[in-house]
Amino acid sequence: MTARSGSTRGGNTRSGNTRGGDTRPVDTRAVNALAGNSLAGSAPTGSASTGSASIGSAPGGGAPVIEVRELRKTYGSGDTAVHALRGLDLVVERGEYLAIMGASGSGKSTLLNVLGCLDIPTSGRYLIDGIDTSEFGEAQLGLLRNRKIGFVFQSFNLIPRTTALANVELPLVYAGVRRAERRARSMAALRMVGLEDRAGHRPNELSGGQQQRVAIARALVTGPAIVLADEPTGNLDTHSSQEVMGILDRLHASGRTVVLITHEDDVAAHARRVIRVVDGQIVESRTAWGVPA
Ligand SMILES: Nc1ncnc2c1ncn2[C@@H]1O[C@H](COP(=O)(O)OP(=O)(O)O)[C@@H](O)[C@H]1O
Ligand SMILES: [Mg+2]
Repeated sequence: MTARSGSTRGGNTRSGNTRGGDTRPVDTRAVNALAGNSLAGSAPTGSASTGSASIGSAPGGGAPVIEVRELRKTYGSGDTAVHALRGLDLVVERGEYLAIMGASGSGKSTLLNVLGCLDIPTSGRYLIDGIDTSEFGEAQLGLLRNRKIGFVFQSFNLIPRTTALANVELPLVYAGVRRAERRARSMAALRMVGLEDRAGHRPNELSGGQQQRVAIARALVTGPAIVLADEPTGNLDTHSSQEVMGILDRLHASGRTVVLITHEDDVAAHARRVIRVVDGQIVESRTAWGVPA
């Protein structure tokens, strides 16, 4: 295994994909159908001022929200090729709360990036709500991500020198939501994570825990059915970790599908199911209390 330093993946995560460029027109209809009403028709995020997780309901439907089959991801080629995912299968049902564990370099982030439409596999299938994304181009995947998926990173990935509110608004800017609605929904999302009073602060004026809560508000503001978090507490102290996990717990309780990566048993214990990844494959799936699942 090649060692790779740092948590930032930077640059082109799409290098080495087998699909051509991104020349296809955006099939907005397909993405709309796929995205259901999670953005367009959803209630304002976190409309309850109590901070309860009233953030719109996940759309219905019978198919698993996430289904991957024979997923492979290879970085590079030839002697230096790294096989990050090696024929991985995973089904996540709607409303599940799933933790992914495994040693560093085992492929967890690669998997989550594929699930979050931030990267595409070298081969294999990825279905969201039963619809195969493998023919989607980059623009379509981007739309889908914007409407369906909220992604939280270990290192927060907020835009510096920009207020918390502007950071949270950004996905709505991409989605073409008008300013007044954008503002209202972003403030509601900040309220949901308990940071309404920090809306005008810049990231460097916030603690790590607060920055991660802003990042969660940004992930939530579009009303995504799926929340993916890559070591969301990895850079946080115990207290901030508990706050962040409390928010993820509420998201799960409100019907979201939550998938998170963690190294910590006490964080994984929040999930209902824990899978373990070794060398790009799932070797174990169990409930939080240890029963195979
Ligand atoms: N963009 C990349 N280019 C080359 N190799 C990568 C890239 N991203 C990840 N890898 C490699 O793929 C393997 C899995 O990485 P990753 O999914 O980040 O693991 P984890 O999140 O479990 O630590 C590692 O060997 C890593 O070095
Ligand atoms: Mg990782």
